[in-house]
Amino acid sequence: MNAWWNNDHIELVISDDGPGIPPDILNRIGEPYLSRRRPQDDGGGERRGLGLGVFIARTLLERTGAKVSFTNRIFPDHGAVVQITWPRQRFEATETLEETIG
Ligand SMILES: Nc1ncnc2c1ncn2[C@@H]1O[C@H](COP(=O)(O)OP(=O)(O)OP(=O)(O)O)[C@@H](O)[C@H]1O
Ligand SMILES: [Mg+2]
Repeated sequence: MNAWWNNDHIELVISDDGPGIPPDILNRIGEPYLSRRRPQDDGGGERRGLGLGVFIARTLLERTGAKVSFTNRIFPDHGAVVQITWPRQRFEATETLEETIG
């Protein structure tokens, strides 16, 4: 996980070294009920993905003013990359509001 900031933006980039996001859902990820997780991905369990995890995370982040984007690392690297960017003004406004609420 990496963080950068300047006067205009705050940016978080989270990446992993897994298989990457399946290419067929890469441009739709974040929509509800979108899943490619199979039961055997959970170590032989019976649980399928509901396809709600990324949707919920993205929805909550966007509600804080963030823009969220998904890519994969480029071969020969592998893994998913999620970039979350806030306008700095919006980020600081949120912090001030929470301080006020206490
Ligand atoms: N870090 C990741 N690497 C590779 N694929 C991912 C990653 N995160 C999500 N995905 C893909 O995106 C799909 C949607 O993810 P999401 O977390 O929304 O659903 P899920 O994990 O399948 O189910 P749920 O989170 O509701 O239990 C996953 O099924 C998986 O195919
Ligand atoms: Mg999930």
